[in-house]
Amino acid sequence: MEIISTTKKMQEHADSVRRLGKTIGLVPTMGFLHEGHLSLMREARKRTEHLVVSIFVNPTQFGPGEDFDAYPRAFERDAARAEKEGVDVIFAPVETELYTKEFQTYVVLEKIPKHLCGISRPTHFRGVATVVAKLFNIVKPDTAVFGRKDYQQFVLIRRMAIDLNFDIEIVGFPTVRESDGLAMSSRNSYLTPEQRRSALSLYRSLIEGRKLVKSGIKNSSRIIDSASKLINSHKETDIDYISICDPETLVEMEIIDRPAIMALAVKVGKTRLIDNMMLNPSEGMTDDPSAY
Ligand code: PAF
Repeated sequence: MEIISTTKKMQEHADSVRRLGKTIGLVPTMGFLHEGHLSLMREARKRTEHLVVSIFVNPTQFGPGEDFDAYPRAFERDAARAEKEGVDVIFAPVETELYTKEFQTYVVLEKIPKHLCGISRPTHFRGVATVVAKLFNIVKPDTAVFGRKDYQQFVLIRRMAIDLNFDIEIVGFPTVRESDGLAMSSRNSYLTPEQRRSALSLYRSLIEGRKLVKSGIKNSSRIIDSASKLINSHKETDIDYISICDPETLVEMEIIDRPAIMALAVKVGKTRLIDNMMLNPSEGMTDDPSAY
């Protein structure tokens, strides 16, 4: 496994792989790799011949007062995990490599960031879209794999790839969960044991939502009420949003008369967690949109 830290070397490497006629898979990450990331790597490996994992804690997607400095970093451990998964290259640039002093060009989507996490994190998706566009130009992948736990991010990147004509297949991989259902996230490492118990209320409220939809309830507000009650009954929880919305546009749906996404963001202690699931009034609920 090679570790590349400059954009020039990464671009040259990508060109040489492409000249050999091999396809490139990219899994963009901010490191602190867990089983969820490893599943994305396995998926990219299945689809392509040369696997690149980027590790970069991207400053432009963190707002003032967010956890950029505290974000967990463990490069040696990450490299060992990636190597075990058969990764060919880790692209790990330093900040100045991606953002020079003169940097001034951002990718801004007009509509998708106006919903869900974009409301309390107004500059987050500008940072995500910008860094992912840069990674696409540097790594030159044929396929890029993202987790659907960050559902809004996945929809945004898919839209950006279409709008900006990136000739890249964007794959959304289902959320990987702990055995009790908690969605895997690098930020779970911030949780105390008690907060970890409270964090499970996110998954439980989604499952409860599914049951309600299965039982024939179509009114989003009833499902959101029930989720709020469940989450609020746990210690140290502070709901940012619970939304039932269109899976493409993320516009809220009052009545669940077609597949919808139920998405939520909750602060547990100081840790902001997100999760989501698909609701389908005709089939119950699944987190696999390919089912539709
Ligand atoms: O999902 C993440 O880890 C990040 O948002 C991403 C896609 C690597 C961009 O920094």
